[in-house]
Amino acid sequence: MISSLQWRLSLTLTGAILLVAIGAGWLGFKSAYDDTIGLQDDLLMQVGSLLDRLEVTLPEEGLVGGYPGADHEFRITLQRLDGPGRGSTSGQHLLALPADLPDGLQTVLAHGEYFRLYVRTLRSGPRIALSQETDVRDQIAYRNAWRAVLPFLALVPLLLLVIHRLVRGLLAPVNMLSQEIDRRRDDDLQAIATTTLPREIQPFVEAINRLLERVAYTLAAQRRFVADAAHELRTPLTALSLQAERLEQSGLTGDARQRLARLRSGIERAKTLLHQLLTLARTQAAAPRENAVVAVRALIRQVLESLLPLAQQKNIDISVDAPEDVHIASSELELLLVLNNLLDNAIRYTPAGGHIDITVRQQPGQVRVVIADDGPGIPMAQWQQVFEPFYRLNGNQEPGSGLGLAIVKAIADRLHIDISLAFSDPDQGSGLQISLILPAAAAATPVP
Ligand SMILES: Nc1ncnc2c1ncn2[C@@H]1O[C@H](COP(=O)(O)OP(=O)(O)O)[C@@H](O)[C@H]1O
Ligand SMILES: [Mg+2]
Repeated sequence: MISSLQWRLSLTLTGAILLVAIGAGWLGFKSAYDDTIGLQDDLLMQVGSLLDRLEVTLPEEGLVGGYPGADHEFRITLQRLDGPGRGSTSGQHLLALPADLPDGLQTVLAHGEYFRLYVRTLRSGPRIALSQETDVRDQIAYRNAWRAVLPFLALVPLLLLVIHRLVRGLLAPVNMLSQEIDRRRDDDLQAIATTTLPREIQPFVEAINRLLERVAYTLAAQRRFVADAAHELRTPLTALSLQAERLEQSGLTGDARQRLARLRSGIERAKTLLHQLLTLARTQAAAPRENAVVAVRALIRQVLESLLPLAQQKNIDISVDAPEDVHIASSELELLLVLNNLLDNAIRYTPAGGHIDITVRQQPGQVRVVIADDGPGIPMAQWQQVFEPFYRLNGNQEPGSGLGLAIVKAIADRLHIDISLAFSDPDQGSGLQISLILPAAAAATPVP
């Protein structure tokens, strides 16, 4: 069973058309053939009745009809059936016919060939036979029949082509729809527009839309749950942190003090994790914020200021190459989060004494920000996975939650920022280079 509707429709219609064409063709052929034969019979009869009415005197033996130049096989032969010379072989075109042939039309075999015969008893007495070879008559009839059906048969391929085109055209909206859905981003759960679709597939698309709505609702509920859980956990964790602080002031022995320090760093890590989780849930749940015009260089400077202690501690050299007047139209707070996570990673995962280069370039309609470090980088096979929540590379010694890049991805999707990873040093396959392509601020937007 062929599962393609297009093929099934095409095949069924083609089959039906061919059947009709064969049937109609055969009927047309047969009626044209019969008509021609009938006309030829009429001709014989008319000649007979003409002779009868003219009352001509007939020669004893008979005569050969036709007119000069006529195809000799097509000739009509007139002969007497009752003359004294009947049956003599002197006339080479005369047929040996029995005298008692009945009046009327008939087909007889004579001299090894078939002849169509019209026998008539004239009013003046003699009996005559008008004859014509059937072969020639049949050929003419065949030729006429073919002429009648050929134009029709020639139209059949054209009709098939039209049907093929039509079926393809009718199913085009379905193909376009699937392409449109395929092109969607993972988180794009918006309803599919049904206004331009044929009425037959609208119920199907409406069902998909209802499903999308339910999925969006479930997803939102899940994200709310994560956000609520993270939020609820914050209070007891803060209390825990306070208790640990008090404990430190209550004069502990050396061993207990050491254990308390480990406990406190654990609590700190949990707090960071909760904070990240909350940020991720919020960025995923909230609607995109109002766009503002953001100066890229100032933004990078702001992020670097907060990360400077860590960079200095590891003696990492950071260079910024950014024109002052590059602006983008975006949400400043969320951009801060993106840059903060990316630069925090670069500083964290680059060994002491490393370098980080930040480049900003204005391009037509967009701004390109590239952050490149000379650390170990990320293997190409994991370039996609690192953006998943809680995904961290094996053997990672740095404290962290694996949520940073997931937050970056969630924001980038919402703000239409294009992120791509590469190696800073492609030959060695080392160093991470992250490129961000952001929509530039519209030229007319006033720059604060
Ligand atoms: N600049 C970088 N150099 C090398 N590895 C990196 C870099 N940035 C991120 N990674 C890897 O990607 C993982 C995911 O990063 P991220 O989502 O920010 O989580 P976290 O930093 O909390 O571990 C990190 O654990 C690290 O292994
Ligand atoms: Mg990180």
